Order: sequence, then structure tokens, then C-alpha cells
Amino acid sequence: MKCKRKQFNLPKDATYLNGAYMSPLLKSVEKVGIKALKLKNNPAQITADDFFDPVNSSRKAVAKLINAKKWERIAIIPSVSYGIANAAYNIDYKKNDEILMVGEQFPSNYYVWRTVGVHTGCKLRVIAAPDTNISRGEKWNSQILSSINSKTKVIAMPMVHWADGTVFDLLKIRKAANKNGALLIIDGTQSVGALPFDVKKIKPDALVCGAYKWLMGPYSTGFAYYGKYFAKGAPMEESWMIRKGSENFSSLVNYQEDYRKGAIRYDVGQTANFNLLPMMHQGVQKLLKWKPENIQAYTRKISTDVLEDLKEEGYWIEDEAYRSSHLFGIRPPFGTNTKKLKKRLVKNKISVSFRSDSIRVSPGVYNSKKDMERLKKVLLG
Ligand SMILES: Cc1ncc(COP(=O)(O)O)c(C=O)c1O
Repeated sequence: MKCKRKQFNLPKDATYLNGAYMSPLLKSVEKVGIKALKLKNNPAQITADDFFDPVNSSRKAVAKLINAKKWERIAIIPSVSYGIANAAYNIDYKKNDEILMVGEQFPSNYYVWRTVGVHTGCKLRVIAAPDTNISRGEKWNSQILSSINSKTKVIAMPMVHWADGTVFDLLKIRKAANKNGALLIIDGTQSVGALPFDVKKIKPDALVCGAYKWLMGPYSTGFAYYGKYFAKGAPMEESWMIRKGSENFSSLVNYQEDYRKGAIRYDVGQTANFNLLPMMHQGVQKLLKWKPENIQAYTRKISTDVLEDLKEEGYWIEDEAYRSSHLFGIRPPFGTNTKKLKKRLVKNKISVSFRSDSIRVSPGVYNSKKDMERLKKVLLG
């Protein structure tokens, strides 16, 4: 893969290493968005089929991206909090069941479980990152695995930690969950699109994903895959569009008992979202062309040398086996003046994020090795 910067409108002098904050807009996504916006100039152009067909095309594209067999298992959601809540409120809990999470998860995959705990008597079990710089990722993974037991009802976690890029071994975690009859609910927002995710291998009970980061989509769009466990659940809202036969506008008030197939019942209302959904679809189409494994290899290629150099200068960086290449935390040497460092980064138009005690660097296909070199120069300057 070669650098795709020309397909984006990033300013020439911007060193944007912050895809984990949000992706820049692809020119092709912008074009689709403007076309979609103009459609309403003449509403007669919007047909009844437009309420359903494009949505199903988006489901199909997403299903392909995550290798899910049935596209009907993909629901369209506006946010991760919405998608996680659909799952969390449809689980049959018993008092003293445990909900297992990793430390410092993104709040959209934390608060809802805390609420569940309050109402059901379930216990939250949070596996914090080990307080070490030696084999931290490996130790964290093994602590997670050894914490899964017969009390574990749900494992709710990401594939890649949002703050520092630690990679969690979902295959092993799935195996341990199966042994103990636990559900596996994944927040894929910081991984899907940039790192391969295979539903057939990992078999998540739910995979929830916001689209405005690694799916190259606009804000307020996303998808959720729900497995068999959730086939008969109660959706967060009762949109007319999720009922069987809703495609037929002339019989909408022949109120229906049944929902449409699969996970469509979990769709957000006004699913068709004529402005934003075509943009999300276009972003996913690009990813299907580029392929997440190539994006991962590309971001590795442009960052490896710089990370080696930073390590030599006292920066702490996770072992390669336990960190993603599109998102990683680098911890400055003890005594670094972070305030000054932040200022220098801003002055040099380098965009990264500061999360917990790490600098979160998240390169994408629009970056090159030169961007990483520029970052190194400022960090070591
Ligand atoms: C891991 C993760 N999940 C979810 C989100 C966004 O959540 P929501 O769509 O509920 O705003 C973010 C945003 O940074 C994130 O990093």
C-alpha cells in the first residue's frame, strides 16, 4: 500500500497523527455527502425504497468487512453507547454474576454496565493494567484470562485499548468465555477498519462500532453486530422501520407484532439517515478496497523505525506483539515537561492526543514516514 494522502483534503502543513480522535474526511466521502444533502432540494427524488435499500447495502458492506455471514445481523446505530445499551439491557442476569471489563475503558462501554450492576446486583470486575513497563500487554492479557470464571456473565471490552493501543487476544478470551458460558461484547471503535476483525473466528455476541474513526465515516453513524443470544431482545426504541412489512407504506398502521429479520430490531429510528449513511457506506467501501490488513501493515511500515529511535531515547512503548500499529501510546521519559511538549507539538502543527499517561499516536493511510519523523524531531527536540 502507498500513502493515500491525495484522497484527503488535509492541509499541506498538517501532520495529522490522530485517527483515533477522528479520521479526516475522504474526498469521495465528502462528494457523496454533498450529493446526499442536495437530494432534499427536491424530496420527490426520495422514494420509499430509499428508506430501506441503501441501509441494507450498508449492512452488507459492513458484514463483508467483519466477515459476518448474515447481513441481517447488522444494526445501524448512532453511537457506541446506544449499541452497547441494546446488548446490556437484553441479558438475563442473576445476582452476583460478574461483568468483566478492562481498566480505563471508554465511558460508552462502562457507564451502562455500572447501571446494570446497580439494578441487578451484578458485580463489575475491572482488570486494571499491570503497574509495570515489562511485558505489560502480555501480563494484562493473562490477568484477564485468569479472571474469567463460572461467575462471569459478560466480558465487555475492546479489541484495542482506546488510550494506549494495547491489543487484547480476543481468540483466547472467546475460548475462556465459552468454557464459562460468558457473553463477549466488543467495542470495536478503535480497531475495526484498521485491524482485521473476523466474526466467524471470534464469534462475538455483540460487536459495536462507531464509524467516525477507522471506518472513515461521519460523526453520529455506526453499526452493531448482534449474535444469536440477542435474536429475541427488546430494542432501545420502537421505530416503525424495524417492524415486519414496514417497506409497505400503505399498511403502516396494520400494526405488526413481528420485527424484521435478525438484528434489524436494534436499528436507531430514522435509520435511513439520508445525509450521513451514504457517507458511512462510502467510507466502508474504501476500506473493503484497501483492506484492514494492508492498513495495519502500512502503518507499521511508516512507524517502526521512529518507535525504535524513541525507545532508545527513553520513551516507553508496548512490545510489538501487544500493540496495534494504527494506535499506540508512547510514554515520555521521567521528568519530561509535558506542558512544554504539548505546546511544541501544537506550534509544529502535529496532532496527537494525550490520554492517561501516554501520548496517543494514531497514524492512518494519509500519513507517511515523514510525518512520523517530524513527530520524532519535536519529541526529542
Ligand atoms: C473505544 C471508543 N468507543 C467509543 C467511542 C465513542 O463513543 P460514542 O459513540 O458513544 O460517543 C470512542 C471515542 O473516542 C472510543 O474511543
